[in-house]
Amino acid sequence: MSQDYVNPDYVPEPEKVNTKKGLEGAVIDTSSVSKVNPDTNSLIYRGYPVQDLAENCQFEEVAYLMYKNELPNKAQLKEFESLERSYRDITKENLGVIKALPQKCHPMDSVRTGVSFLGCEDERVWDASPATNYDKAVRLLAKIPTMVAADYRFKKGLDFIPPKKDLSISENFFHMCFGQIPEKEVVKAFDVSLILYAEHSFNASTFTTRVVTSTESDIYSATTAGIGALKGPLHGGANEMVMHMMLEIADPTKAEQWMLDALAKKRKVMGFGHRVYKKGDSRVPTMKKYAQKMADIKNDQKWMQMYESLEKVMVEKKKIYPNLDFPAGPAYYMMGFEIDFFTPIFVMARTTGWTAHIMEQASSNRIIRPLSEYIGAGQRSVQPISERG
Ligand code: COA
Repeated sequence: MSQDYVNPDYVPEPEKVNTKKGLEGAVIDTSSVSKVNPDTNSLIYRGYPVQDLAENCQFEEVAYLMYKNELPNKAQLKEFESLERSYRDITKENLGVIKALPQKCHPMDSVRTGVSFLGCEDERVWDASPATNYDKAVRLLAKIPTMVAADYRFKKGLDFIPPKKDLSISENFFHMCFGQIPEKEVVKAFDVSLILYAEHSFNASTFTTRVVTSTESDIYSATTAGIGALKGPLHGGANEMVMHMMLEIADPTKAEQWMLDALAKKRKVMGFGHRVYKKGDSRVPTMKKYAQKMADIKNDQKWMQMYESLEKVMVEKKKIYPNLDFPAGPAYYMMGFEIDFFTPIFVMARTTGWTAHIMEQASSNRIIRPLSEYIGAGQRSVQPISERG
């Protein structure tokens, strides 16, 4: 029986399926973490427009906002930073697990495994009290960049660079990957990307973390599952696919024709479209500005020229707009990161949103257990194998 089998005797009862495929448009719970407003192309994190946060805050302040519902004052930020920095080291066993993974495994698989291992190491794994969950959320925020950077180095056959405690999360990540920190503007562009990627309401991976949490499973299991969901090219994996596509096009003067051909072949073009935003993604103008800054710093306009041509054709022909992954892809490439690390960087950012949602779900939980409409074979009796033809 094929997977798309439908019982010929099935009488469709569409009114029974009262949600659209892919849960489109379904509001399944309340949340105070963030709001996506497609009518105004806006996104707020706990009331603050994401563009304002990106321009005026550093990523750590936004992480604090996710967990504490308010932006920190100087003393609160200092205390938060010192807790986060104190957790940056990972154990030699966890490092060993990352190093032991097959050389060719995708870095998303490495970070998923690393986070899972982190859960094995935490003796408080079953303690989901708000205070302990907060502490674990900060642990994840601190340790995930170390795991990603370790994997980055190992995959290049280089030695691990331990984290430094006197650097911001963004500076420290550059330090751990490259052994040096780039110009302030590059660090700012990276930090902005983390802020923009931090949270986006009930997207597929966040919903996944909430489903896992709703079973009273632990924060590490939920985050591991979230990473699995984010890996897919229809979700976080799109930022990598955008750069592969741009490299495939190679020449900005060929971008227009490439897009026309792609549309003629009904090809899904990565970095375009969104389930919620239909008139443009609120985060794109800010990320595009910083991608352009990267192009200016690197004195390489190729990718942004390609960006403009691809966007122009897609908007003219299909009225489909770029999403955040479209400017983030070339921005990370110009920062010098290997393409398959773009989505793990997204993980570093989205860990804040995921863990804020995990804590929200845990604080007012009911197991998430929807229904399905059965369209399979009618009831029948089992014949012993000897009687089956
Ligand atoms: N390229 C070409 N056409 C696209 C498109 C894209 N990136 N995104 C949507 N469309 C078209 C679909 O083909 C469909 O056309 P049709 O009605 O003629 O069949 C229509 O727009 C609606 O798209 P649909 O796939 O039903 O939207 P969705 O809400 O289910 O999916 C995405 C949303 C994000 C998964 C989808 O736009 C997509 O796959 N984008 C590319 C991957 C990506 O960038 N993901 C990151 C999201 S932040």
